[in-house]
This record gives sequence, structure tokens and C-alpha cells, in this order.
Amino acid sequence: MSSLTLLLPSIIFTFFLPSVADPPRLATDKSALLDFAAATPHARPLNWDPSTSPCLNWTGVSCNADGSRIVALRLPGLGFVGPIRSETLARLSALQILSLRFNAFEGSLPSDFANLSSLTALHLQNNHFSGNIPPLISNLTRLVTLNLASNSLSGEIPDLQLPSLKFLNLSYNHFTGSIPPSLLRFPDSSFAGNKISPFPPIITAPPLPPSKKLSVGALLGIIAAGCALGFAALAVSTVLCCLRLKKESMEVVTGGKAMKGKWPMEKMEAVSQEGNNTLVFFNGSTLAFDLEDLLRASAEVLGKGTFGAAYKAVLEDGTTVVVKRLKEVGVGRKEFELQMEVVGRIRHENVAELRAYYYSKDEKLMVYDYFSQGSLYSLLHGKRGEDRVPLDWETRLNIALGAAVGIAHIHTQNNGKLAHGNIKSSNIFLNEQQFGCVSDLGLAAAINSTALSMSRTAGYRAPEITETRKPSQLSDIYSFGVVLLELLTGKPAIQIVRGGDEIIHLVRWVQSVVREEWTAEVFDVQLLRYPNIEEEMVEMLQIAMACVVRVPEKRPQMAQVVKMIGDVRKFDSINWLSTEARDD
Ligand SMILES: *[C@@H]1O[C@H](CO)[C@@H](O)[C@H](O)[C@H]1NC(C)=O
Ligand SMILES: *[C@@H]1O[C@H](CO)[C@@H](O)[C@H](O)[C@H]1NC(C)=O
Ligand SMILES: *[C@@H]1O[C@H](CO)[C@@H](O)[C@H](O)[C@H]1NC(C)=O
Ligand SMILES: *[C@@H]1O[C@H](CO)[C@@H](O)[C@H](O)[C@H]1NC(C)=O
Repeated sequence: MSSLTLLLPSIIFTFFLPSVADPPRLATDKSALLDFAAATPHARPLNWDPSTSPCLNWTGVSCNADGSRIVALRLPGLGFVGPIRSETLARLSALQILSLRFNAFEGSLPSDFANLSSLTALHLQNNHFSGNIPPLISNLTRLVTLNLASNSLSGEIPDLQLPSLKFLNLSYNHFTGSIPPSLLRFPDSSFAGNKISPFPPIITAPPLPPSKKLSVGALLGIIAAGCALGFAALAVSTVLCCLRLKKESMEVVTGGKAMKGKWPMEKMEAVSQEGNNTLVFFNGSTLAFDLEDLLRASAEVLGKGTFGAAYKAVLEDGTTVVVKRLKEVGVGRKEFELQMEVVGRIRHENVAELRAYYYSKDEKLMVYDYFSQGSLYSLLHGKRGEDRVPLDWETRLNIALGAAVGIAHIHTQNNGKLAHGNIKSSNIFLNEQQFGCVSDLGLAAAINSTALSMSRTAGYRAPEITETRKPSQLSDIYSFGVVLLELLTGKPAIQIVRGGDEIIHLVRWVQSVVREEWTAEVFDVQLLRYPNIEEEMVEMLQIAMACVVRVPEKRPQMAQVVKMIGDVRKFDSINWLSTEARDD
């Protein structure tokens, strides 16, 4: 026999096998799904083709990262009718999320769901399930979300010992009796529309630690922020938030295709000829260069907005900085310098340093640290490919914590009165430890134009900010909440859809989804591949929602936010907060 004939069968084998052979556990999961689909009539067709892998394209099915198990099944509103046959879905033993809401499932809740020991979210609302809640549900110890609202369930509510449970909705069923002790921590609206009576005494929540009242009026000239002295990737967001507002004044360098070359010379030469052409450095700055060096540096346009441009400048000694060139400055020299002094003193690993500034009649420059990894905005929403690595949950937590610590530190400055005024994902970078780091501090204060603040920061702007009411620490907290929502959902703060006809505000979208109790569905699909993080994600979602409440005084203070984020992962947030000025 020739070696060729020996090889042939194995070639054929490798060619044809992969389309049918799933990993063994996946094959088990797949047959469970197919048994379920075959046993349960559904009005809308499923594209579950037995000859393909369920991980590729099956409606409602999500697998883990290596495609070896099914971890989420979402079949909302597909017209399923009838009972769930036992020994079908219960075989999906790696399942973390199960959503069957808005169908016409009936009969009792399958008691074999107790086998789904990895389950963190169970959404069965708006069906016709009847009978009792089986006490075996207590086996689902990882459950974070349990929504059984709007069914026909009856009997007494069992004393479910579910330590991780954060969202519970049993409303609009036929439950009787009283609320068991383990569930008293949930609000009345978790139990509305039942025949539960009498309600046991309401246990009031422990009071929050007292928080300092802010004297908003005393904020030192922290004024309206602009968007968009941004970075290359930010150009996209600039387009988004400015599109409808002031199109004609935009010059945007589109993503990634930054222009390279020397500084625009005409103007800059004028600068160098002026008498007092020195850059003002801050104490401890390790950069040794002067304006001449800066002018000689090769510059790359990172982004241009209505009120200035940002350049990446590589000095002859190799140092890279970001130079922000302000077109319009709304404050006088004295006030500008005063601001810069406050900002320039800040040395913290979660706040990008303002290295130097330059102020003359014709030219105002601010020199910041440069971060090579791009902004959080570009990491989350930039073009996939080349420089875009999907952000894992760990990194997102670290970014959130770092940025929170940075903002909390800013809020302690200038006698506790300093605000950033322009918190958004394009102003957040990763420091060397891969924690979040807040940039562009001081810029908002230098640009005294309410009109800009009205248009530029759309998706991040707290509702209380008006013509007369300037950004404050409380509005920083709102904006930070929006950044948290971006981290959780993977969606930008504002999206323009339908050819520009409709604007979707992330905050409003999340609020509406959470109101409908589809909590699991707000999260970035890219995060689904990481096991056992639903609880942490839900906790972060709660923090974000607390930050974006309408009434400013009801938002937590930044130091509290740091502590709450620290608690999500048991970070040592207290140590973080006390990180004082670095010794330079
Ligand atoms: C996935 O399914 C959709 C419709 O269900 C179909 O249009 C698409 O071509 C499928 N993609 C793959 C890669 O099979
Ligand atoms: C569920 O678990 C029980 C006990 O561990 C086992 O006997 C049963 O076969 C399991 N059912 C399914 C559908 O896996
Ligand atoms: C429920 O949990 C108990 C104790 O952990 C275990 O013995 C039992 O097999 C579980 N039941 C099912 C159906 O998984
Ligand atoms: C539970 O669901 C009902 C009906 O959808 C809703 O009105 C109620 O606000 C929900 N309760 C909670 C705590 O989310």
C-alpha cells in the first residue's frame, strides 16, 4: 500500500469530522437543547441545526470561551407553549443564565432545575407557570437574579436561603401567607400583586454613614466642560455627540488616521517670538524641555475639536507627551494660572499629571502625560482588530476602581472643592499597573463656555447642569456612573441610530431595561465568557445606578463609591484612598 492511500482516509476524516463532532460535554448540552425544542411547541422557528455547533449561530445560545459548554440560554418571546419537559433543560449543567420570559410556558416549575448549580440568573417572568415554588430552588446557591413575576404561581413562598440573591421578583402571582425571613430584605415591589397578608413589620434599612454636605457654590471656577479635545478614537464619539448640534464647527481627524508631521508652524513661530516664551513646569516635573524643544518635536494630531487640538509630541530625547492646544480660553490669565497651580500640584497614580502649561495672548498650551494604550473609550468602542484587545472583567474592575480613586483624590483637593468637570471614557486611561487613570483635569475649568458644556458632553452630563448650574463634584459622580455603565454594557454613552434620527442615552436605556427586570441582558456579551461574575456585575450595576440618580444629593460621594467598588472584589480600597501625594 502506498503512503498516499494510508493518508487519504485521515484527510477525509479531518475534513468532515469537525462539523459533526462537538466536544463531549457540548454534545450532551446540545442533545439536551434538541430534546427540549422537540418536546416544546413554539410559534417562532428556531435555527437550531443539529449538524452545526450550538456555539456558532443557534438562536439564544451562548457558549463559554473555549466553546466546550453552553452557559447561557435566552429564549424570550418565542411563543413557547406548554410545560417544560423534565430531564431536558436541567441537563445543561454548566448553564449560568436562563431566560424564558414572555412565553406561554405552563405547568409547574421543573424541580430538576435544582440541578443547574451554576445558574446565576433565572428569568421566567410573564409565563403561565403554576403551582408552588419547589424548595429545591434553594439548591441554586449562586442565583443572583430570580424573576418569576406575572405567572400563576401559588402557595406559600418558601424560605429560600439564597445568599447571592440580589434581584427578586415574585409579583403578580397568587402567593399566600407571609414573606419568609430570608426574603424580607427585598422591597415591597418584589411581592406586589399577591395575596400575601398581613405583611410582616417592615424592617428599615440601616442608615448610610453621614456624608458631608457639599457647598456647590464654592467651587473654584470649575466650569463647564467641553468634549473632544480628544484622541484619535475619540473622534468617533465627537461625531456622535456633536453631530446634531454644531456640525459646521467640527474638524475631526478620523479614527486611527492621525496626521503626522511638524507642528502647524505659522502660529507656533509667533509663540516662540513672544517675550515670555517659557513653559511653566510644576514642582518635581522630571521633564526637561522648553518651548523650543516642544516646537522642534515631531507632532502627531490626535484629535481636533471645536475648541482646540490634541497633539502627541515626541521630544528629541524620546519623551512623549500630549499637548493640548486651546483655541479659546474663557478665563483671564490670573484665573487660568490659579487653576493650573491647583491642578499642577496633584500627584497621584490615578490622575494623569499636568506637566506644564503655557499661556500667552495668542497661545494656550497644556502638557499632559501620554498613555500609549489609548483611552477607555477606544478600548471599549474602538474598531476591532489591530490595537483592540477585548477588555476582560478583571481589567474593567481595575479601570473602574483606579478611575474612582483618581476622582476621589481630585475631590479632596483645593480644600475639598475641586471637581473635574469632564469625566468620560475618552478621558480615562490605563496606568502602568493597568488601573484606571483620569486625564484632562483642569481643561474644563480653563474653557469657560457653558454653551460648549451643553453640547459636548451630552451622554455624560448630569441632568442638573444648566446654563446657570455648572459642573460640580456631584455631576462628576453622575458622569462616572455613566462610565461604569459603559464598562458593564460595552455600549457608548450616547448612540445615534436610524440615520441620525434617534439618540439613545445609555443611562435611560439601562434604566428602562432594569425596570423591566431584564438585568442580565444589559451586560456586555463579551463578558459572558467569564464564569461566575454575574454577582459582581450586578453589584457594579447597582453602584452605577446609584451614581446616575437624578437628584444630585442622593448620589453617593466619590469616597463611598470607591469603597463600594472595593467591596465588589474585596480590594483594599481604604489603602487606595489614602495613597497620598507621591514623593518626587
Ligand atoms: C446565522 O443565522 C442567520 C439567521 O438565523 C443567518 O443569516 C446567518 O447566515 C448565519 N450565520 C452563520 C455563520 O451560519
Ligand atoms: C439531577 O440530580 C439528581 C441528583 O443529583 C440526579 O439523580 C438526576 O439524574 C439529575 N437530573 C438531571 C436531569 O440531570
Ligand atoms: C441539592 O443540594 C443537596 C445538598 O447540596 C444535594 O445533596 C442534592 O443532590 C441537590 N439536589 C439536586 C437535585 O441537585
Ligand atoms: C417586579 O415586576 C413588576 C412587574 O413587572 C414590576 O412592576 C415591579 O417593579 C418589579 N419589582 C422589582 C423589585 O423589580
